[in-house]
Amino acid sequence: MDQSIINVGLCCLDIISICNTYPLEDSDQRVIDQRWHRGGNASNTSTVLSLLGHKSAFVGTVARSHELSFLEKDFKKYDINIDRAIVKADCSAPTSICIINQQNGSRTILHHNKDLPELSCEEFKQFPLDSGIKWIHFEGRPNTDQIVGMLQHVETYNKSLGVNQPRIVTSVEFEKKREFSPIETFPDYLFISKEHAQFHGLKSKEQAVEFFVSKIKPSASVICAWSEDGAIAITKDSSPVTSAIFPPPKVIDTLGAGDTFNAATISALSKGHSLKDSITYGCKIAGAKCGIEGFDKLS
Ligand code: ADP
Ligand code: FRU
Repeated sequence: MDQSIINVGLCCLDIISICNTYPLEDSDQRVIDQRWHRGGNASNTSTVLSLLGHKSAFVGTVARSHELSFLEKDFKKYDINIDRAIVKADCSAPTSICIINQQNGSRTILHHNKDLPELSCEEFKQFPLDSGIKWIHFEGRPNTDQIVGMLQHVETYNKSLGVNQPRIVTSVEFEKKREFSPIETFPDYLFISKEHAQFHGLKSKEQAVEFFVSKIKPSASVICAWSEDGAIAITKDSSPVTSAIFPPPKVIDTLGAGDTFNAATISALSKGHSLKDSITYGCKIAGAKCGIEGFDKLS
């Protein structure tokens, strides 16, 4: 059975400007290109999973604003199920101004989320879990207690299953510079970004997984992508495994590299590959992404 992978978190509008060089403050200049893009970590991860051939779904809130038709059409274009997205009235769509420097592919993100309410646990609980869901990936958002409730809801569902019924695998991503505790004690896989690890004062991917492995449940794994230093993964009772990066011929656009790494790693894990092979595939697809504009040519 072709089971779906669900991504819970943010969908926003990215307004991307591709610049010749990084802009000077208080300058007036022309950019090489400009485009609208459906962004947000959960939304991007859904896109990459779909391009990698999975049945992918986005779950989260979206604003009933003038950007909505663009976002909905784009989900449709990538065959991402949004039946469980909740449209909120009287609020604005979160927006990012993204500057991509053509010289080195760096991305600078100026994000604003004025008033879009986060998904609540009660809203999440409205969705049936017995509909062929293979994996649910949660983006760490400010609604920590609500995410804990969602993970507990999935855990209760898993415990109600018979021995031969497949349980839903869960993962959570901690990316931003904020505290998400105690979310880390619930998922099967915990993805830590370099940015989040540095927020905790951790200086390398090795330090990051050592720090977080003490916090996860016994059967779980911690995975950490560290920009040009590749990625690492560890479980409580095994030594760490690592992958180097796969550099593209030229780094063009690193926007969503982390989301791509997460998606590709989840894709491989969901097919039963080892942690080492899965993060290596994550780095391979993320490296390919850095060499192209957007995600389209990944498929
Ligand atoms: P983000 O900042 O988007 O969260 P990272 O910068 O940590 O993500 O990158 C995630 C993954 O993308 C890395 O583990 C690596 O595999 C890949 N990656 C990032 N930058 C490069 C690069 N310059 N060349 C090749 N791969 C890269
Ligand atoms: C990339 C991204 C962008 C979005 C921003 C939100 O990882 O999801 O698409 O604008 O991060 O923080």
